[in-house]
Amino acid sequence: MKKIVGVFLILSTTTAFMLPQKKAAVSQPTLKAAIERGKTVYLQRCMACHQMDGGGVPRLNPPLDGASKVKGADKVYLIRTVIKGMTERVEIDGEYYDNNMSANADLTDVQIADVLTYIRNSWSNKASVVSAAEVKAARAKIK
Ligand code: HEC
Repeated sequence: MKKIVGVFLILSTTTAFMLPQKKAAVSQPTLKAAIERGKTVYLQRCMACHQMDGGGVPRLNPPLDGASKVKGADKVYLIRTVIKGMTERVEIDGEYYDNNMSANADLTDVQIADVLTYIRNSWSNKASVVSAAEVKAARAKIK
């Protein structure tokens, strides 16, 4: 009997421990907090080029507001762009941009996740959250 009670106790405590970790959809307060933190990173690292309204600078820095890839499903592209920067002349949504984007490899996984969540959920953009785990996995593959 003692043994059974013991097993029951272990089971119930482990279950109770596991319950809050169940992954549901990202809650609104969590999203709001990530956007707030991401805005701080944006002001320090991105705003000078992409502008406060996300509108960019014609022919130099692409707009992030309304940009198809910023709102798109390829999060690895976005993570790589922030980590490595971009130096080649590129075509984005039918326009060419020629400035150099600086690298941000020194930012933490959380900071990169937050700033991407911020640009994906600011101005007219509405897209899914980027998590620190996604940044960590992508960073490991980026040379
Ligand atoms: C020095 C200016 C500069 C800074 C600072 C900068 N960018 Fe950029 N960004 C660019 C340029 C220029 C491009 C386009 C690539 C090119 O011309 O080489 C670009 C491209 C991008 C793209 C790809 C857009 C698309 O639609 O494909 C994303 C996303 C992006 N930047 C996000 C950021 C974020 C987030 C930050 C801050 C962590 C940041 N940028 C900081 C200049 C900058």
